[in-house]
Amino acid sequence: NKRIAVLTSGGDAPGMNACIRAVVVASEGAGHTVIGFEHGFNGLLAANWRKLDSKKVHNIIQRGGTILRSARCKEFKQDVSAKLAAKHLDELAIDALLVIGGDGSFHGAKHLSNFWDGQVIGLPGTIDNDIYGTDATIGYYTAIETAMDSIDKVRDTADAFERIFLVEVMGRHAGFLGASAALSGAANYVILPELFTDKETTLKDIHQQLSIHRQRYGHESFIIVLTENLWPEGIAELGVQLEELTGGEVRPVILGHIQRGGSPVSQDRMLATLLGVNAVRCVEQNKTGIMVGMQNNKPVEIELSQTWENRKELGDTLTQTMVTMLNERHNWGMTT
Ligand code: F6P
Repeated sequence: NKRIAVLTSGGDAPGMNACIRAVVVASEGAGHTVIGFEHGFNGLLAANWRKLDSKKVHNIIQRGGTILRSARCKEFKQDVSAKLAAKHLDELAIDALLVIGGDGSFHGAKHLSNFWDGQVIGLPGTIDNDIYGTDATIGYYTAIETAMDSIDKVRDTADAFERIFLVEVMGRHAGFLGASAALSGAANYVILPELFTDKETTLKDIHQQLSIHRQRYGHESFIIVLTENLWPEGIAELGVQLEELTGGEVRPVILGHIQRGGSPVSQDRMLATLLGVNAVRCVEQNKTGIMVGMQNNKPVEIELSQTWENRKELGDTLTQTMVTMLNERHNWGMTT
């Protein structure tokens, strides 16, 4: 029987609790012991942990956030931190550490493995879906739902006032969330890192699409979805530039951390559960230095370093048809 530790790190994502639950329930069923470190890698450094059993993870599958708390831990990059974490893990006789998080968290896990002999396994949890090696990450589907729902609401007021709206979504430097929210929310235009060329071309293109839209629908209600960290001067400045260019009235909306919260949708709960159970299986098979993921509905294991050495493309998650639609945006703006 194994002693397994689990932590959640980096940006929290809906479904992290479902994943913790799956790890605990699967482990307990197989006779393993589980402890949880609090506040991500900070908990490893401070030896801040607690025992987890199925009673403690009862009734959490539907809860957003993470019962183990999360954090971004810059100091974990230092060797002295990884050594201290290794010492604490050895004192607790831990066989395997499961890290639920994104890119930065996986770097931390890999760094630890340079100083610790135990097994290290990553589980992809981030609303950004920017992790290579898995079609989706835990939290991504719920964030799409939240952003889509927000676009629906924005459209009501956009229609009432005949205004142009700029809706900024998260995604760090990836457009998965923006693309999915724009497609499912029937936005009229989308600005994504993967398709972005330069400011001038984009402004001109928006102006052209808005003119087509004005002719076709005879109204000004026009929704533009924009991925964060992309427009050099920020969303407010883009709004001013658009007003000058189009003569329309523009309002910017930043969805922000709302996209990180809420009860996980069924797809995230199921993904989280499958990944949690598969991670425990990998522990039993003495695997280490890997991330568990899902590709084409099949569980996969990827070397941790591969997850950041490769870049995930839009087409790896969205179908090629969708990517084509995004490229030909004037054909898919379906707002009426
Ligand atoms: O990685 C998840 C994420 O929400 C990104 O989409 C966003 O850029 C970032 O985290 C925000 O980080 P913080 O909550 O630390 O401001």
